[in-house]
Amino acid sequence: MKQLTFKLVALILFFLIGNSVVQAQLSKDNEKQLNELMSKMTLDEKIGQLNQYTGDYLATGPVVQDGEKVNQIMQGKVGSMLNIKGSADTRTYQEFALKSRLKIPLLFGLDVIHGYYTTFPIPLAEAASWDLEAIEKSARISATEAAAGGIHWTFAPMVDIARDPRWGRVLEGAGEDTWYATKVAFARVHGFQGKGLGTPNAIMACAKHFAAYGAAVGGRDYNSVDMSERMLRETYLPPFKACVDAGCATFMNSFNDLNGVPATGNAFLQRKILKGEWDFQGFVVSDWGSMGEMIAHGFASNGNDAAMKSMLAGSDMDMESRVFTNELKKLIEEGKVPMELLDDAVRRVLTKKFEMGLFDDPFRFCTPDVEKKELSNPAHRTAARDVAKKSIVLLKNEKQTLPINLESKEIKTIALIGPLAQSEYDMLGAWSISWPDSEIVSYEEGIRARLPKNIQLVIAKGCEINGISTAGFAEAIEVAKKADIVLLAIGESIDMSGEAKSRSNIHLPGVQEQLAIEITKLGKPTVAMISGGRPMIFNDIADQTPAILYTWWLGSEAGNAVAEVLFGDYNPSGKLPISFPRDEGQIPVYYNYFNTGRPLNGDDYEIYKSAYIDMSNKAKFPFGYGLSYTSFEYSNLQLSAPSLSQSGTITVSCSIKNIGNKAGEEVVQLYLRDRVGSVVRPMKELKGFQKVMLQVGESKTLTFEINSEKLSFYNIELNWVAEPGMFDVMLGSSSEDIRLRSEFELK
Ligand code: GLC
Repeated sequence: MKQLTFKLVALILFFLIGNSVVQAQLSKDNEKQLNELMSKMTLDEKIGQLNQYTGDYLATGPVVQDGEKVNQIMQGKVGSMLNIKGSADTRTYQEFALKSRLKIPLLFGLDVIHGYYTTFPIPLAEAASWDLEAIEKSARISATEAAAGGIHWTFAPMVDIARDPRWGRVLEGAGEDTWYATKVAFARVHGFQGKGLGTPNAIMACAKHFAAYGAAVGGRDYNSVDMSERMLRETYLPPFKACVDAGCATFMNSFNDLNGVPATGNAFLQRKILKGEWDFQGFVVSDWGSMGEMIAHGFASNGNDAAMKSMLAGSDMDMESRVFTNELKKLIEEGKVPMELLDDAVRRVLTKKFEMGLFDDPFRFCTPDVEKKELSNPAHRTAARDVAKKSIVLLKNEKQTLPINLESKEIKTIALIGPLAQSEYDMLGAWSISWPDSEIVSYEEGIRARLPKNIQLVIAKGCEINGISTAGFAEAIEVAKKADIVLLAIGESIDMSGEAKSRSNIHLPGVQEQLAIEITKLGKPTVAMISGGRPMIFNDIADQTPAILYTWWLGSEAGNAVAEVLFGDYNPSGKLPISFPRDEGQIPVYYNYFNTGRPLNGDDYEIYKSAYIDMSNKAKFPFGYGLSYTSFEYSNLQLSAPSLSQSGTITVSCSIKNIGNKAGEEVVQLYLRDRVGSVVRPMKELKGFQKVMLQVGESKTLTFEINSEKLSFYNIELNWVAEPGMFDVMLGSSSEDIRLRSEFELK
């Protein structure tokens, strides 16, 4: 029986494989060199190229303390190392690799997620900037610094759609919306890969985690995912396809099982879709140990079975599980894994090494002088500060609390209170690369640097980030009493979001909200600056504190960026890329929901409607929401025609005017709704946005194009279709703040 099963699997895969063997386009000369090299390689040397080990400076997963890696490198048994950084150390390891028989250079990978030496805001924060150019620039600078530090390959962008803020890794992506996430994914791949592999400062990008990792049950990291293929293709896969379209060099699979099959052993994902339908020419690296973890999943019976299922399913490189290096040779010799598959995986990996120019010069990334210059380039910090201030979201601003006018005679003392007031390391957020000498600007430092001499800054911690003690409240309240305005620096610590950091309770940690309310009760102008890697719940602050800035984790320039917004040097323009729930009980809450047959109209409970008896359905702060120090008037929505054909386009335009007293930027969002479909369709879907700067009194006309692609979805037969019928078109300042509406017909 087992033999029959195996033969059946091999037959099915052979069909899949036929469509998934690489046809990468190398130069004729490199192609010739690659073929010659492969013809010389022993089975051990081929398997070696598919084996990746971690360096010892940083563990980003459970480390296996075993065999001597340097000897294995010199024997040609290692194709890549991760978690080694710096041109000196990468040179050292590359020299080991060049002692091997065929002198095949190593690939050095590292999680350059939001910066290498200069730390940029976490990706979710950058997504809140709605500035694709700034996002691409952030990746470009990160790549430039990483390349100077000997890194060939970043394990980014993470493009997992996430609707569950209990999941700690929501910080790594672009939030809940698929269409916007595809734009961000494309920008990030372009940023990392620059003008193409082999050009200066270009490093390989890695689309991860393939796939649907953000839908883990309960928001529990690494947990199971179960969804229809239609949901998978419509909501979770498009950002990955955008990475393929952007020429992304590699993919990383994910820890989760998807519909019962672990992603690492999932031929449907990796062979049928990625390497088949999408004709992906790069290679797939497993996530840390994920091949071996298929034993724990109960999908593989042992390492040998795990290696076979990984290879058959299209996983090309084994990160840290060792099942390839321990088992593949036997599997090939026993004919359980076709040699063609092994050769395809090896060819994919070597193709990238040729494209990166490593065979021409294995040390082209080991350049200490370039490293020194790039890591101290002041333009990088300027860019980090720029995107950081654009990432800040103004959630509330009553009584014109903000911006703080430093010219005001009434302001002599500012109090900065909270456990994050003086923190530096926390400002970096998860997946930052720490350096002993890299400067991080804390809130205190950034604010102090901005204050004129006549204004005093007084500080009190008030409480710990986590913990129940209120012993510090009294001092904090006394300090606040002396001040004319109070700034609250509160939120998560750096280690409360990120991988393996799911939280069942996403309220502000500890007694911070209690502290904030005690301070707010003093009745002084009070601003809450809330930092963290995810949406959090802080309903009392939201209802009682007059001003709130969501400051995420802003990176190296955090304090300077916050100061620019607090004191009005920069008018905040951020908009939320993810919904903020009122309570964990609402999760998942997202803007593009289906209407249901018993929709709740408005906010109050109605019996026999889809509603909670104890809470509104609505997010506390919705997708696309963010305020400004000025205000904008939307008018004059125009459609170029009342209908369009399947191949046609119409344009929708509107006027937007700055009717406030400060120059500022607005992110005008275009939402569409398909009123009737062969499957139910969301109440609205983001299908366009424009971020526009307007001077006081200035007005601009914005135009958006609508075509059938923007109206398309997967029908029940999984065909990508746009169905004739009526559509709503909406322009708004957030998903809940629709300013202009109209309709059109698709013929
Ligand atoms: C981790 C993460 C992945 C990361 C890899 C290497 O487990 O899941 O995102 O790139 O290991 O650090």
